[in-house]
Amino acid sequence: MEALERFWEQLLPREELRPLPLEGSAGVVFCGMGGSGVVGSLCARLLEEKGFEKPLFVVKDYRLPPAVRKGYAALCVSYSGNTEETLHNFRQLLERGIKPVCLTSGGKLAEEAKEAGCEVHLLPGGYQPRFALGFMLSKALLLLGFDGERLKKAAHFLKESLPRLKEKAQKVAERLYGYAPLLVATPLTAAAAERWKAQINENAKSPAYAVFLPEAHHNEVMGWVNPHLREAFSFLLFEDSQDHPRNLKRVDVTEALLKDLGVSPLRLKGEGEDYLQRLLYLLHLGDWVSVFLAEAYRYDPETVPLIKGIKERLSNA
Ligand code: F6R
Repeated sequence: MEALERFWEQLLPREELRPLPLEGSAGVVFCGMGGSGVVGSLCARLLEEKGFEKPLFVVKDYRLPPAVRKGYAALCVSYSGNTEETLHNFRQLLERGIKPVCLTSGGKLAEEAKEAGCEVHLLPGGYQPRFALGFMLSKALLLLGFDGERLKKAAHFLKESLPRLKEKAQKVAERLYGYAPLLVATPLTAAAAERWKAQINENAKSPAYAVFLPEAHHNEVMGWVNPHLREAFSFLLFEDSQDHPRNLKRVDVTEALLKDLGVSPLRLKGEGEDYLQRLLYLLHLGDWVSVFLAEAYRYDPETVPLIKGIKERLSNA
């Protein structure tokens, strides 16, 4: 809770960071998993919205896309510094002649990156990775050339919005209680939906699913016809005012279609004066929804025993 109260503060630029030379790069690749990986999803979308014209890859797998080669800028994000997929990506990048910039609080990644002469940005320790998102995102955005003032403004906007945002989150959490949230997101809200899903999974210990428009209109919707299974879900529709007009139309159509099936979905959008603010607002709303849901289900939002267990099993395998 305390980390969430201070999310806006985590976003504040703490130091001058020299931006990566993106203009001279062949493209950008982001590597990271889970609470660290969402940094890549958010940055890629924000860079695209800023008009960045080169290829962007967000890798959440062992395998790097074959197109990633020398000349790409790379950002490896792992809060613990011990995530095996990200370490594997890091080593592959080195093999391809790319020196990734690393964001971590320590671990093997910090060790190996320093040894390889890579730029390492150390994050404050002692957090669960997903509760350190503000620190990671702030550094990543500055490294990608985002204006520190704009980030500061967004952080302060979140701070001012917090009482209202928490009130809304409480209501959304009440609505989701007892259901598996099904998030239907547009392209500009997809990264926020990814975070909502993960936060609900990890904090509230609840299944949650995110599906994406326009693709969901070509398959997902047919599953909603089944009343027995549909009843397990609570539907949320995400949109951003700058989404492609046809995608906004599709949100309307989705709502109408669900209403015809007897379901009232909740439509949500971010608030703020630019895309960064709106994206962060929507994302942070989900953070609070997830902890209120955790409270309602009487789970400790911090612990993630199964994730820890998987890592232990794999480290011995
Ligand atoms: C735990 C969490 C997880 C981790 C993920 C990768 O709080 O959110 O999703 O982020 O297992 O670990 P790191 O972030 O240490 O690379």
